[in-house]
Amino acid sequence: MKRIGMLTSGGDCQALNAAMRGVVKCLINSGEQYEFYGFLNGYKGLIYSNFRMLTGADFSGILTRGGTILGSSRVPFKTIREPDEDGIDKVEAMKQTYYKLQLDCLVVLGGNGSQKTANLLSEEGLNIVSLPKTIDNDLWGTDMTFGFQSAVDVATTSIDYIHTTADSHGRVFIVEVMGHKVGWLTLNAGIAGGADIILIPEIPYDIKKVIDAIEVREKRGCRFTILAVAEGAISKEDAKLSKKEYKEKLQNYTFPSVSYELADQIQKKTGREVRVTVPGHMQRGGAPDPYDRVFASRLGAEAGQLIIKGHFGYMVAYKNREIVKTPLKEIAGKLKTVSPDASIIKEAKMLGISFGD
Ligand code: F6P
Repeated sequence: MKRIGMLTSGGDCQALNAAMRGVVKCLINSGEQYEFYGFLNGYKGLIYSNFRMLTGADFSGILTRGGTILGSSRVPFKTIREPDEDGIDKVEAMKQTYYKLQLDCLVVLGGNGSQKTANLLSEEGLNIVSLPKTIDNDLWGTDMTFGFQSAVDVATTSIDYIHTTADSHGRVFIVEVMGHKVGWLTLNAGIAGGADIILIPEIPYDIKKVIDAIEVREKRGCRFTILAVAEGAISKEDAKLSKKEYKEKLQNYTFPSVSYELADQIQKKTGREVRVTVPGHMQRGGAPDPYDRVFASRLGAEAGQLIIKGHFGYMVAYKNREIVKTPLKEIAGKLKTVSPDASIIKEAKMLGISFGD
């Protein structure tokens, strides 16, 4: 009998359940006997030994269900070595839970910070297999994360819907897209939704160029302009500030987000009516799309294979259209950003999309 622990950590996304189901189905179908321990609310469940024993039945009917049946939470990596409010050593506590339950492997489904903690636990001697989860698609070592395509669908639908009302009223619209510090989601949803201007953190914008792009469209007789703006988009001026100066600026910042600052600037400089739409956490919600169901199931099955073979300390990843295993130590702490020189940026520019640069 082998004992497998499982947890989902960080911001949730679509297809977490599909991925866990993939792992469990693969193991059950291998013919060996397994016991499954689901830790509740991410690493917190492992720290405080808060878990539920799961059977195959728990994973039945969850392929299409969004969210996570285990719950999730954020335990920031930068605080992982700090004792909690009761003085508990979090890393020691996680190891104790693992050893107490005599686990053979811990499966971690997580994004950037969660992979760092997974790597730390692996370095501490635990058997870890991880899966790449995040709508941001910013994990190093994999071309794609599950959740991303479903989030692209939601963000694209938001931009699609905005078209008709923007046209009716002849307005400038800003659709703010998630993605934390990277622009993958905005870039893909922006192109898919036919946005006229796309602003992402990796390409700081010049507000004059943004205004120019709006005015060029107006002169061509276009009634509306749609901007897809990443929540982390940054102006050229702000990008030049030191970390300290930027922090100071944010302390006196009166706008809810960069989109509202842009809306204010565009309205003042063009006299046009500008509206902001923020789909927000809807981008992480709902059922996974078919792509993510297939992708997460495949990743889950391959993670199951790693467990069967006893290959630990890896994240299952997608590279050059193949599912591979990537050592956790190689990916932990690295961010996959959009290169301003990427062909997708060049092609988007050929299509007439402005990046405000
Ligand atoms: O990392 C996923 C993500 O949805 C980011 O795109 C976003 O910046 C962040 O999480 C939001 O976090 P929270 O759910 O804690 O508000």
